[in-house]
Amino acid sequence: MTSTEVVEILQRAYQDEFETVMNYQTNAIVLDGVHAEEVKASLQADIQEELDHAQQLGRRLKQLESRPPGSAAFDARQDSLQPPEDTTDVYSVIRGVLDAETTAIETYRSLIEAAGEANDPVTEGIAVEILTDEEAHRTEFRGFEKEYKDD
Ligand SMILES: [Fe+2]
Ligand SMILES: [Fe+2]
Repeated sequence: MTSTEVVEILQRAYQDEFETVMNYQTNAIVLDGVHAEEVKASLQADIQEELDHAQQLGRRLKQLESRPPGSAAFDARQDSLQPPEDTTDVYSVIRGVLDAETTAIETYRSLIEAAGEANDPVTEGIAVEILTDEEAHRTEFRGFEKEYKDD
């Protein structure tokens, strides 16, 4: 028996991963300045991981006899990760990334809990694996945050 809650969280997480890919890619292109280079390279590297997350979530939905959503169901949520007006404002992007990664961490924690309650160890395992990546992303951007805070 598939838990409705597990399916709903998987679908929301799938959309969030694509919103993250879009905003990481946009910010990796628009930021300017020597200070931006490291952050841009990091965003560019994370994009492939976020896409892999979406693929894992979508395949799991199919295995649970559901399906990942198309773009018509899309509901944008990452207000703080929009590309900044001032393209040298790297700090604004760092803050936005930290918000996105924190939201992702909360989502995968709730997926672990819901999957545990639904006795669905496969979904739980996928969520643990993705959570590991999101925590690593957050740690990396916390490092950038420290560097930029006093500038
Ligand atoms: Fe992700
Ligand atoms: Fe991430």
